[in-house]
Amino acid sequence: MSFLEEIERRRTFGIISHPDAGKTTLTEKLLLFGGAIQEAGAVKNNKIKKGATSDFMEIERQRGISVATSVLAFIYKDKKINILDTPGHKDFAEDTFRTLTAVDSVIVVIDVAKGVEEQTEKLVEVCRMRSIPMIVFINKLDREGKDAFDLLDEVEQKLKLTVTPMSFPIGMGYDFKGIYNIYQRKLNVFSAEHKQVVSEGVEFDNIHEPALDEVIGEHAADTLREELELIDEVYPKFNQQSYNEGELQPVFFGSALNNFGVKELLDCFIDIAPNPQPKKAEERLVNSKEQKMSGFVFKIHANMDPKHRDRLAFVKIVSGTFKRNTPYLHVRQKKTFKFSSPNAFFAEKKEVVEASFPGDIVGLHDTGNFKIGDTLTEGEILNFKGIPSFSPEHFRYVNNADPMKSKQLQKGLNQLMDEGVAQLFTLELNGRKIIGTVGALQYEVIQYRLEHEYGAKCTYENIHVHKACWIQTENEKDEEFKEFKRVKQRFLAKDKQGQLVFLADSPFTIQMTQQKYPKVTLHFTSEFMNH
Ligand code: G4P
Repeated sequence: MSFLEEIERRRTFGIISHPDAGKTTLTEKLLLFGGAIQEAGAVKNNKIKKGATSDFMEIERQRGISVATSVLAFIYKDKKINILDTPGHKDFAEDTFRTLTAVDSVIVVIDVAKGVEEQTEKLVEVCRMRSIPMIVFINKLDREGKDAFDLLDEVEQKLKLTVTPMSFPIGMGYDFKGIYNIYQRKLNVFSAEHKQVVSEGVEFDNIHEPALDEVIGEHAADTLREELELIDEVYPKFNQQSYNEGELQPVFFGSALNNFGVKELLDCFIDIAPNPQPKKAEERLVNSKEQKMSGFVFKIHANMDPKHRDRLAFVKIVSGTFKRNTPYLHVRQKKTFKFSSPNAFFAEKKEVVEASFPGDIVGLHDTGNFKIGDTLTEGEILNFKGIPSFSPEHFRYVNNADPMKSKQLQKGLNQLMDEGVAQLFTLELNGRKIIGTVGALQYEVIQYRLEHEYGAKCTYENIHVHKACWIQTENEKDEEFKEFKRVKQRFLAKDKQGQLVFLADSPFTIQMTQQKYPKVTLHFTSEFMNH
């Protein structure tokens, strides 16, 4: 197969949802279609179980599993499909944001009864800001839920999307009769007894055919005709370009658990979802069809075995062919590295691979050279954009609890931060270190891992910070900026990249600061630096 054919057949995407909407179930059904797994239940549930002995023990258990489910690849109708796993737990939202920098499209799963939930809103917002093409899958149609049109309204309003229904349910819950696939003009009749059996669907090019009444009953047939007419009038038609540009979102209905509506989703997905897209680097736009290899690290997974502190760095290939035992430039370190055993991912297995193509993810064994956002090339200086740090939600001072082990603590903290577990800030005034996290759980994880992997002990101390704001100013010599630095001295810190950060203690402080120092811009993500 030629290089261009390899690119054309790749679809790299992520599934996002609020926990419990059905992401794991849908993933599993997609893998079943790809023949990647043989039975349902094979994909381990990569989420923190409610009521587990301790959330923390659960996280440790999950760390083992999540290597296996980080990338799930399979072949379907000759397309190479890579599903990038996104953690469901809200404390790990930042991992999900970072993974979204490596996808070419997403599928958003929504529970028909719960509608649009908080975490879906947040994640979709990130996708919307980046114009990532999205398909919406409304799940659990076998249960009583919200009216389909109400849900479409909710999706449009809460998620600020423009939807185009590609399928439409006939009834719901107890009355659920099936789904009309607008995209393929086919009717799929639901039968609860034939769970998991994928029906091919009956073709109904013309829904006015009387035969439709025979299949689903006169009343349901009339309702469907009216609803489809309404859809035709109200919603825009599918348009490939608008979808690609993130301006139009196709919607499917179904039941992942019953494997109903999933095949339609997948068939449409491989048709319309984009293959590996060009990616912006600070220096230029890199096209996937370029012959020279480039890629970036979007995730680092630490080994579970504390004795071998090796890690797996996940690299998304942006252009060219990544080859085993070939020297590549690590742009940040200005050093060349060769990788003798790059891993490719297949279903739940990983294996050493000779060549990987744009859209693929390779896992590289690493002993501490990589951090999230690093770029690899064949020599060109490129820095891929779009792996931002967001302001953490929680802040604590970190203290060394074992003075004999300060080196170990330093090293451990550095490596954990490179993995993206949390963010470290150093106060300008006195050099004290502050750890910022998205979820409170990370503090336990850090403490445990410092002790078990690095032999270091730490304690925490509360500090009252509301948000970390990255500071930007046109002219550092400006009097206003100097005054800002003098007045706010106690609240200024450097992040790990050496960027100046203002640790604001309340929304009010942020507001006042913005008013008082209009020439000092405060940002809630570090991404502005790449613009
Ligand atoms: P998540 O990864 O998004 O967190 O969700 P997951 O797939 O684990 O699904 C959450 C729950 O919803 C599971 O039930 C799952 O069986 C159920 N579910 C998924 N799809 C459907 C569907 O189409 N219809 C119905 N009725 N239920 C669905 P659980 O009881 O929490 O877990 P389990 O014991 O079944 O694993």
